[in-house]
Amino acid sequence: MTVSEAFWKIHTDLPRQAPGSDNTTQHLLQLAGNPTGKALDIGCGQGRASLLLAQRGLTVIATDTFQPFLDELQGAAVAAGLREIITTRNISMDALDYPDESFDVLWAEGSAYILGWERAIDSWKRLLKYGGVLVATECCWLTDKPSNEARQFWAEGYPTMLSAKAAVDVAAKNGYGIIATYTLPASDWFDEYYGPMKEKHAGLAIDADDSMEQAITSGRKEIELYEKYGDEYGYVGFVLKKN
Ligand SMILES: C[S@@+](CC[C@H](N)C(=O)[O-])C[C@H]1O[C@@H](n2cnc3c(N)ncnc32)[C@H](O)[C@@H]1O
Repeated sequence: MTVSEAFWKIHTDLPRQAPGSDNTTQHLLQLAGNPTGKALDIGCGQGRASLLLAQRGLTVIATDTFQPFLDELQGAAVAAGLREIITTRNISMDALDYPDESFDVLWAEGSAYILGWERAIDSWKRLLKYGGVLVATECCWLTDKPSNEARQFWAEGYPTMLSAKAAVDVAAKNGYGIIATYTLPASDWFDEYYGPMKEKHAGLAIDADDSMEQAITSGRKEIELYEKYGDEYGYVGFVLKKN
């Protein structure tokens, strides 16, 4: 097993792939004015947000590049009676080939970092109708003076991570109006993400090979860092309007 395979083994049956919660998704929807129409979920993971958006009346295309997540979402959509409302598609977020102004809503929980904040929101903008909303959650600095340990960790993990204020400035510079920002509570990190991940670590540590040990050590380090410095960085939800 490679370290990357070990990483996926830890992550595949977690409830979600980034900090978040149904409460936060609902809150962000409300801040966005409970939009209707067509939504594109970008980097949807197992699609917890997609399911909620569909339940709230949006037609959803859910996209990711990890097919097992899309298969899981498809099963969940059928079970929830949303088969006609959620379509899944295996396509990369840097190759979204929909015509300009196809969507009323772009939704990206914990996935913009894959392209980097500016490239993501800039390249996705053409997909949005004028007046449409982009809702994205992104890991940001919450302080101007992070501790050395936190700074060093993120210098490796996400070197271009911005402060929440800088992320807003980048959005404004790229032609978005800022409707709202919302810092996700610590419970969004633990209840459905780090908590289940800790249990997974404990189970998989029992007969871990070298790669699995490496993946577990790295996951534990990340969790410990948040436990120590969770007031210095966090996930922030950005509710942006295409002007
Ligand atoms: C941190 S997870 C967030 C998933 C989900 N939105 C959530 O909140 O649970 C990032 C997701 O992006 C997907 N991903 C990675 N690279 C991608 C790419 N180039 N295009 C689309 N999705 C990608 C991963 O498979 C993963 O599901």
